[in-house]
This record gives sequence, C-alpha cells and structure tokens, in this order.
Amino acid sequence: MVNQVKGTHDIYGLEASEYGNIELRAKLLASLYGYREIKTPVLEHTALFKRAVGSSTDIVRKEMYTFEDKAGRSLSLRPEFTAGIVRSVVNNKLYAAGELPVKLFYAGPCFRYERPQAGRYRQFGQFGVEAIGAPSVYLDAEAISLGYRIIESLGFKKIVLRLNSLGDEASRRDYEKALVAYFSAHVDRMCSDCQLRLKSNPLRILDCKDPDDRKIIQGAPKIMDYLSKESAVYLKQVELALKDLGITCETDGDLVRGLDYYSGVVWEYVVADEGAPDVGAVGGGGHYDRLVEELGGPALEGVGFSLGIERLASLSSALFAGDGLENGPDFYFIPLLQEALERYFPIVEKLRLAGLVVDMPFKVRSPGTALKAASKAKAKFAVLVGPDELARGEASVKNLRTGEQVSVPEDELLSSLAKMLEKYLDELCRKMDGKDAF
Ligand code: HAM
Repeated sequence: MVNQVKGTHDIYGLEASEYGNIELRAKLLASLYGYREIKTPVLEHTALFKRAVGSSTDIVRKEMYTFEDKAGRSLSLRPEFTAGIVRSVVNNKLYAAGELPVKLFYAGPCFRYERPQAGRYRQFGQFGVEAIGAPSVYLDAEAISLGYRIIESLGFKKIVLRLNSLGDEASRRDYEKALVAYFSAHVDRMCSDCQLRLKSNPLRILDCKDPDDRKIIQGAPKIMDYLSKESAVYLKQVELALKDLGITCETDGDLVRGLDYYSGVVWEYVVADEGAPDVGAVGGGGHYDRLVEELGGPALEGVGFSLGIERLASLSSALFAGDGLENGPDFYFIPLLQEALERYFPIVEKLRLAGLVVDMPFKVRSPGTALKAASKAKAKFAVLVGPDELARGEASVKNLRTGEQVSVPEDELLSSLAKMLEKYLDELCRKMDGKDAF
C-alpha cells in the first residue's frame, strides 16, 4: 500500500461537502462585492516568491517546495496566492483593461513544508481576493468586511478580527531602527535564525516561534508607537468604516504577519465560538504599497486576504456536526421486486433531471435490508415500491428521520417529493437556529 504524503490529506465525505460549501459561499459573496475569478498556475519561478514574499521570511527560507525542472529552472509550488496574482496582473496588464481597481478572487491549493499539526498541512486550500489600483480606506474596509461576512455566512457566531498597521515607509524605517537597537542587546541569547534576521530583516524576528526568544520578543518596541500620523489616522478611519458596517475589531500591536510585502493595514480572523478547537487564524490579509512595482508593474497599491479552507471546514465539522449537513441523497429508491426496478429506472432519471438528488440500488432486497442500506447511504427519505404499491400505481415514502410514512400516486411523484423535501429542509433550517441552508 502506498500512503499519502506526510502533511497532505484526502478530503471526502462530510469534509468534502463542507469544503465545497465554503468555496461556493466565498465565491458567491466575492462576486456580490464585484470580484471576478482568476486562476493562476500552481508552479511559479522561485524568484517570484523570493521577491514578493521576501527571501528572509520563514515561508521562503524554510517552507517552499522548490526544485529544478529538466531545463535547470528553479521552480516552486506556490506557498500563497498573492505573488502569483500580482505577477499575472502585471504580465497580462490587467490594470489597463478597465476601470480600477482590478478586483479578483481565487481558490486552490497552496504548499508549505511546515510541521503538520491540527489545522496545519503541507498542502492546504486557500480562498482569497486581491483589489489592485485604487487605494482607499473604504476598499481596505470592504475587503476586511468581505472576509468577515464569508466566515459569518458559514454559521460562526464569534469572529475575532485582529487589526494592526505596519505603517508607511517612514514609519517602518523608524520602527526597524528601534527593533535593531532593542534586539542588539539580546541577540546573543537568541536562536541563530534571529541572529541572521537582525542583519537581514529585523521585523521578521517578531515571527520567531522559539519559546525562549518569544519571551524577549514580548518586550520589543511596538509598531503602534512608531506609526506616522497619516498611518495612524488611516488605521482609525478603517476601524470607523468597519464600525459603520457593524464590525468591531481588536487592535493588536503584535500582529505583523509573516510576509514582507505588507505596508499599512494588516489583519487576521479567528473563530472563537464556544467549543471551537484551536486551529489558529482562519484567514489574514493586508495592504501592499510596492508589490506591483516590485514585480515590474506600475506604482499601484493593493489589498487582499486569504482564508484557509481546511481550518474553516474543521471548525464547521467540530461545531455543526450532526446538524444534518450529511451529504447523502434526498431520496433512496427501494424496489421490492424486479418489475418495480424496471418501472422506476426511467422515473428516477426524470426526478434527477428535475433537480432531486435520487439514488437507487439495482438489486431487489427485503424491506428491512433495503431500509438499512438507505440509512447507511444517509438518505433523507426512502421511496418503497412493492407489489401492492405497483398494483395501485403508488409509492410509499418514508421520512428516515421521523419514521413517518405516506403513500404518493405515481403521477404526482415529482411535485409531492419536491414539497416533502422543502418541508424537511425548512424544519432543518429552523433547528439550526439561523444557520441558513444553502
Ligand atoms: P497567510 O496568513 O500566510 O496569508 O495565509 C492565509 C490563511 O491560510 C491562514 O490564515 C490559514 O488559515 C491558512 N494557512 C496558512 N498556512 C496553512 C497551513 N500550513 N495549513 C493550513 N492552512 C494554512 C497569505 O497567504 C496571504 N497571501 C494573504 C493575503 C492575500 N494578503 C494579501 N492578500
């Protein structure tokens, strides 16, 4: 037997329907906010990520799947989307094709060689958006709100939005000076990575996960104290715009994000519903001033965020499992004799083409065995046709949740089944207390 690669996982059953549901909702909501889909390759030149994400970030230094192709090019599997999306916007001059901002959404797999643990995989799915070319407090607030609303639409009640600003270039320069002054006094006691970071990119010391280093990092200067007046005002305005949308945020001076391209506002989302397992942030994003230019395009600013699909799917399974989101068929047809199988084979197809999810075993079995099979298939209703039903031109429809059974004339089958399903889903929605069915 060949096993899956460490840190990867197969997605099937309930998790696969959660996964699909999250992507579907996210795409729908992003479309309502005026974003359009873009698909970029999983493979990119390694140089792209070095330049965009930053050579001294953990993602580029330690976590990329990098290899030489047969022609000796250094390629990497994307560890994140933003670099590839901005490259595509520049390569294809998407900024020149219409009104700015260019608003794009994307979904697909990313790869990071991280230590696997709860909510952390080596292959994981992201959904995200980027809005490029028309910077505004409101565009930042709109992006933050969109991510928030996607998470909210999945039924989570307590979403913590952590917000910070990394400031403009001047704020950043002052802050880096303060960091160098502070860490120079401690660096001998810090890990070898931090010693390198102090020289190459002091801000990245703040990402260090070493427990001893973290104690030193806690005492480091905070970016908040070095923000220029403009950056501080901008952050306040974003907070106010969010407040107008009914979204409150926690300002978190420690939030620096692990990617180099950010400037200005950055944020993360955490789901903190009661009973939610700790999977880390379910998403994060920020504003970037110079990335488009650094990748060879004009001086256009951008903003965006990405959500981690596995993290959202595992939270959803943990919090809402048993809420009836099982992915079985709506109706499971049970022919109790060969003539019923033959008669209903074309009827079942008509029901499917009319939009009902119907499954049917191609075997005649006893009612008991067949009903067990229907439950195992996680069907909502069983539709039984035995000799009596066949003689009367009827079918017996059994609600597998309540056990209630009714007879339905064959020529009214479609409308009756559709009504029964609607009632079933209505009741389910009410039971789920505001978590609407999609
Ligand atoms: P990020 O914070 O590195 O940001 O990743 C976004 C989300 O992807 C995280 O919040 C997390 O939910 C999920 N994620 C990251 N690593 C893993 C992993 N190893 N396993 C499972 N899930 C993971 C970015 O990627 C930026 N490109 C976001 C952005 C878009 N900024 C501007 N535009």
